[in-house]
Amino acid sequence: MDFKAVWEAMEECQRLGLVKSVGVSNFSCKKLSQLMVNAKIPPAVNQVQLNPAWQQRKLRDFCEENGILVSAWAPLGASGASWGSLAVMDSPILKEIAAAKGKSTAQVSLRWIYQQGVSVIVKSFNKERMKENLGIFDWELSEEELQQISQMPQHRGVSGQLFISPNGPYKTVQELWDDDS
Ligand SMILES: NC(=O)c1ccc[n+]([C@@H]2O[C@H](COP(=O)([O-])OP(=O)(O)OC[C@H]3O[C@@H](n4cnc5c(N)ncnc54)[C@H](OP(=O)(O)O)[C@@H]3O)[C@@H](O)[C@H]2O)c1
Ligand SMILES: *[C@@H]1O[C@H](CO)[C@@H](O)[C@H](O)[C@H]1NC(C)=O
Repeated sequence: MDFKAVWEAMEECQRLGLVKSVGVSNFSCKKLSQLMVNAKIPPAVNQVQLNPAWQQRKLRDFCEENGILVSAWAPLGASGASWGSLAVMDSPILKEIAAAKGKSTAQVSLRWIYQQGVSVIVKSFNKERMKENLGIFDWELSEEELQQISQMPQHRGVSGQLFISPNGPYKTVQELWDDDS
C-alpha cells in the first residue's frame, strides 16, 4: 500500500474540514515511523488489538512519545468471534481479581485498559452487558492488581493469518505486524 499518497489524501480531508481528525489502525511502530517521515499531520489515533492478554507495551510507549492516542479493539479478546480468543475471559488472574472486587472479568479487563490511558471499543449486542461495560468509572484497580495483570502471559489473540499471501504486500505474519508487542 502506498502509505505516503494515502496519508496525503487523509491530510487533505482534514484541511478541507471534511473530517475532524485522521488516524490509523493496526499500525506497528515501524509502520508509524514510516508514515511520519512524510506526514504533516501525525495520526491522532492508532486503533489496535489490545487487552490484558496482549498488552502492546512497546507500541504504547512509542505512541505516547509521539502524541498518538491508542485505542483498543478486541478489549475482551473478541471471545465470541470465530477469530477471537478466550485468553482474557478465561484468565485465572482476571477472574480472581474480579471475584475479590465484586466485578465481572469483562469489567476488570476494560478498567485495566482505561487505567493505561488507552480508549476502549467494546462490542455487545446485549443491553445488560452494555450497561455492565459502562460500569468501570467509579472504582479502580490497585497498584498490586495492576502488577498482577502485568505478569499475564502474552499471546497475539488474532493472528492476522487471513491477510498473509505470497502475492500480497505481507508474505508472513512477522511482516504484517513487524513483531511489535
Ligand atoms: N480496527 C479494527 O481493525 C478492528 C478489528 C476488530 C474489531 N474492531 C472493532 O472493535 C470493537 C470490539 O469488538 P470485538 O469483536 O473486537 O471484541 P470484544 O469487544 O473484545 O468482544 C466482543 C464479544 O464479547 C462479548 N461481550 C461483550 N461484553 C461482555 C461482557 N460484559 N461479558 C461477557 N461477554 C461480553 C460480546 O457478546 P455479546 O454481544 O453477546 O455481549 C461479543 O461476543 C467492534 O466494534 C469492532 O468493530 C475493530
Ligand atoms: C486489523 O487487524 C485485524 C486482525 O488481523 C483485522 O481483522 C482487521 O480487519 C484489521 N483492521 C483494519 C482496519 O485493517
